[in-house]
This record gives sequence, structure tokens and C-alpha cells, in this order.
Amino acid sequence: LFTQETDFMLGAAHLEQLPDTKAVEICFAGRSNVGKSSLINALCGRRDLARTSSTPGRTQQLNFFNIINRLVFCDQPGYGYAKAPVGEVKKWQDVVFSYLRGRPQLRRAFVLIDGRHGIKNTDRPVMEMMDTAAMSYQIIVTKADKAKKKELDKHISDIEKELAKHPAAHPDILVTSSEKGAGIAEVRATIGRLVKE
Ligand code: GTP
Ligand code: MG
Repeated sequence: LFTQETDFMLGAAHLEQLPDTKAVEICFAGRSNVGKSSLINALCGRRDLARTSSTPGRTQQLNFFNIINRLVFCDQPGYGYAKAPVGEVKKWQDVVFSYLRGRPQLRRAFVLIDGRHGIKNTDRPVMEMMDTAAMSYQIIVTKADKAKKKELDKHISDIEKELAKHPAAHPDILVTSSEKGAGIAEVRATIGRLVKE
């Protein structure tokens, strides 16, 4: 699935700009700086497909990537970054909600949680939004290489407790390091199964 043919397709700031594709789509959501773009790069075996930055809150659009015509990735801008004006944030949330709800080919949302920090208050409304949009989501813990084992385990059990409060069934939590490659094969396998379904 993941080859050098993977390419950036387009960025959509409005719903009318969503790509007219039929392929299975998967989106990546999570707080600013959690490692969404890095994970996409690691999955595709590319260094700079999705732009990564240490300056949070850069991308205010949905970025679409074409993975050999059978799979599309959507990189969402990070949330929880305080600099954007409240009105803008609300407008953007509406776009994301409509996208999650009205995109039949969108098979799963990955919600990324930083392995050093665990679940944060800004993650909870996002999980609720996914529930309301009837969007099936799966938690991916990132930056496992930077977290201490004990902290990581605590964060994972807290995420499990949080998920238990949400009505839908949730697939297993995946633990990854885009830097070291840990867990990347498992994420690829999960995506592979979604494409075959
Ligand atoms: P926004 O687009 O701003 O929301 O950020 P993002 O979620 O796309 O994060 P991005 O992939 O740009 O990564 C943010 C920073 O974390 C970068 O400096 C990455 O190099 C670093 N990073 C991402 N994943 C890992 C990881 O697995 N391990 C380590 N050590 N650093 C990582
Ligand atoms: Mg990014």
C-alpha cells in the first residue's frame, strides 16, 4: 500500500474543496504537535510528504494525500492551540464536524495522543464530536520513544478508562514512535484491513 507513489493531493479549507474521490479514506486528528504529520510520513516511508513542524497550529486546512489510488489520508490541523480567535475556532470545528459526518468513504479517524502527556481536556470534546458524528475512531499513542515506560502505561490505562465512558466500541489503542518506527507496522496492518473490508 505504501510506496513512493504516494503524493500530496490538495488542501481543503472549505467543504466544497474536498477531493472527489471514492477510495477508502482515513483521517488523523490530535492536538497541535502530537505528531500527526510525522506519523503519515512514517507510514508512507517518506521524510517530508506531510510537512512537520515544531511550530504548532500551522495548518488550518484538511490536507489530503493519495496513497496509490486505493487509499486517501487526511491530515487535520492540530487543535488545542490557543492563538486562533474563538470565532475562527468555532467555524473550523463546524467544517471538521461536517467532514466527519458527511464523508461516506471515511472509514476511520485516528485520534493521536502524546505518550508523554496523555489525554488532555482538549481531547475530550473531539472524542465527543466523533461520537456525535457517528465516526469510528481509534487512539494512537505517539512519541513512545520519549515517554518513560511507567508514565506511558499510566497514560494508556487512563485512555482506556476514558474510552469506556464513550458509547461506541473502540478498536485497540496503538502505541507508536514515528521517530524509531515502533508500532508503525501495526498501524499499517490496521489500515490494510480497512482497505480490504
Ligand atoms: P500540527 O500540524 O502543528 O498540529 O502538528 P503535528 O501533529 O502534525 O506534529 P508533527 O508531526 O509536525 O510533529 C511535531 C514535532 O514532534 C516535530 O518536531 C516532530 O519531529 C516531533 N515528533 C513527531 N513524532 C515523534 C516521535 O515519534 N518521536 C519523537 N521523539 N518526536 C516526534
Ligand atoms: Mg501537522
